[in-house]
Amino acid sequence: MTFEERTAILNQAPTEEPARQFFFIERMKEIIAEKEAEKGRALTACVNTFGCQMNAKDSEKLIGILKQIGYQEQTSEDADFVLYNTCTVREHANVRVYGRLGVLKKYKDENPDMIIALCGCMMQEEEVVAKIKQSYRHVDLIFGTHNIYKLAELLFHRFTEETMQVEIMEKAEQTVENLPAERKFKFKCGVNIMYGCNNFCSYCIVPYVRGRERSRLPEDVLAETKRLAEDGVKEVMLLGQNVNSYAYNFPELLQKVSEIPGIEHVRFMTSHPKDLSDALIETIKNNDKISRHIHLPLQSGSSRILKEMNRHYNKEDYLALAEKIRKEIPDASITTDIIVGFPGETEEDFLDTLDVVKKVCFDSAFTFIYSKRTGTRAASMPDQVPKRVSQERLDRLLKVVAETASTRTGRLVGTVQKALVEEENSKIDGYLTARLSGNSVVHFKGPKELIGCFVNVRLNEAKGFYYIGELEE
Ligand code: 5AD
Ligand code: SF4
Repeated sequence: MTFEERTAILNQAPTEEPARQFFFIERMKEIIAEKEAEKGRALTACVNTFGCQMNAKDSEKLIGILKQIGYQEQTSEDADFVLYNTCTVREHANVRVYGRLGVLKKYKDENPDMIIALCGCMMQEEEVVAKIKQSYRHVDLIFGTHNIYKLAELLFHRFTEETMQVEIMEKAEQTVENLPAERKFKFKCGVNIMYGCNNFCSYCIVPYVRGRERSRLPEDVLAETKRLAEDGVKEVMLLGQNVNSYAYNFPELLQKVSEIPGIEHVRFMTSHPKDLSDALIETIKNNDKISRHIHLPLQSGSSRILKEMNRHYNKEDYLALAEKIRKEIPDASITTDIIVGFPGETEEDFLDTLDVVKKVCFDSAFTFIYSKRTGTRAASMPDQVPKRVSQERLDRLLKVVAETASTRTGRLVGTVQKALVEEENSKIDGYLTARLSGNSVVHFKGPKELIGCFVNVRLNEAKGFYYIGELEE
């Protein structure tokens, strides 16, 4: 494309969103079609997602745009376009990305037209972008968390300028919804209800890379869910870093979403213990279309450490809340996130964490060794805990979590539960995997036509975090 042609196209582009992106999707369709004619084959794209549900949701949006402009999706990374949607919540995630970029270089040596792109949370960190610009010159495109909707426009620039493109926005200037999205599952889907986080837990980088809290209007969430239901979605998961601080009444939204025709089950993630309301507990209790699962990150059981973490609750508050949930909704599972080795954590603090785990008897827990994140308050705290000590605490914690989880899963053995069949079991031939309302999974024998259906399964055996069961007629 000549400089003049390119300028003419840029001048024609609408300034309004999402019209502007639909315009660039059309231009990219032409460019991809041309490339395909040149090569005599289809162009392929691979999106690799790191991190949480938010990133998984963003990747569905990214894949939607890529498919729209003509790429064929594939799972292996020897593709014409490879995109890493990165996470930076712990240092380990970053190290993995750098390692894999080395592998991608080899693919690019074989296919010089290959385009390598990076986006997501890690790219919102200045040092990361500087390092990639300097040491990973084979990367073609870098963007952040606030401009994923612009993928087609960014690709247009990459294809017509042939230089590394970097566009990171400090904060979300606007939220552009309703672009094409490719759902990983036909029958279930995440729905963003809010973006960002205002809590500034002292260890956490999320508020810096995802920006301030922005709640979507309830009518927009409901309209999107209605469209999804009409398209065959039976289960939605309402997504936010802290759904309890949703600006327009979360329990009411949950209730209304569950009333949309076609929606059979509603999940939500994540709840901050500091502001989980009685109204929410009441709504879940009275509505069996809402999942029997509350993910309630504890982080630490020590009141002193919780204060240092800026969590706004103490050990007793958490225990009281968990007890209230167990009493009001006895069939709900409670899962959690726990960090060990936060700066200054003593053996005594850690014993408080074990104590809470035993008392609440979590159904399951994600456990992490504290990871120092540049720019957070905890990074400059004294008494960083040695790796050896954290590792030993993590091992002890994992044992206790396994015990509480098996106590909890054990109680459902012998009962029949409703579950949504998600996929074929990857390990046992002829078996399917379905998810219960409480979020644990059951494996059982059945025909793959049941994928996407709610079925009744008898839970025969508990295996720690999952069940083996059989289909009930
Ligand atoms: N180190 C270890 N774990 C962390 N998390 C967030 N930040 C850190 C960190 N710096 C964990 C928290 C959070 C989960 C998503 O990741 O437990 O709930
Ligand atoms: Fe991070 Fe705390 Fe916000 Fe969760 S609530 S994203 S842990 S700052």
